[in-house]
Amino acid sequence: MNIVTTINEWQSLRQTLTKKVGFIPTMGYLHQGHFSLCERAQQENDITVVSIFVNPTQFNQSQDFLNYPQNIERDIALLQEKHIDYLFLPTAKAMYEDQYSICVTETELSQELEGEYRPGHFTGMLTVVLKFLNLIQADKAYFGEKDFQQYLLIKKMAQAFFLPTTIIPCKTIRMEDGLALSSRNVRLNENQRKLASFFPKLLHSQLPLNEIKNQLEQLGFKVDYLVEKWQRRLAAVWIDDIRLIDNIELRNNLV
Ligand code: PAF
Repeated sequence: MNIVTTINEWQSLRQTLTKKVGFIPTMGYLHQGHFSLCERAQQENDITVVSIFVNPTQFNQSQDFLNYPQNIERDIALLQEKHIDYLFLPTAKAMYEDQYSICVTETELSQELEGEYRPGHFTGMLTVVLKFLNLIQADKAYFGEKDFQQYLLIKKMAQAFFLPTTIIPCKTIRMEDGLALSSRNVRLNENQRKLASFFPKLLHSQLPLNEIKNQLEQLGFKVDYLVEKWQRRLAAVWIDDIRLIDNIELRNNLV
């Protein structure tokens, strides 16, 4: 695997790549969810590029940024095992030469759900994704459906700005007990992890939304939102200081 750390180096190298490029942007601490995107990219392209960048502008709370799990040596070893062709590891200084004075803001669907509870999050996310899509010049870029609102916004941005990259959504990967894979799960202690398994269980249940919310709260979750839209049931909850999000497709999915 070729590890590229500067934007200049990547841009020169990119000019030499003539085959189909698949791109998976990540914030690291990689798990099977990321690897399922990598596998799909490898099936559909000739060259696979992964980026790891813990994007400071999309964290609305500095503590969340500081707590975000990181282990670059582990990630590099795993990506090598998966035969990824290029790992792009830019610095924050290089990504934000402009000090984040130029950004991308969506003004409609970014205002609700995650956008309501994490002000500024989607502007930081869209800005960094636009920078990456412009740099990588991929044929296809892959995003997990766990962050469904994020996926919708990226797709909308790609259409609005006539970006040549096709945005591909990929199914959420779950643990045996149903918990959606997330880098943040590593922060859950044993008790919190046990409690977390009730989140997907209740999300998949046929109970009315207000009953699901009551049960989550009785179990000790704090619920930011639990709604049905885009033919999905979407929710964000807290276990102590750890925030989990998840969503399920409504058709055929209720048990
Ligand atoms: O989903 C993520 O990990 C991040 O939001 C992304 C798309 C890599 C942008 O920083």
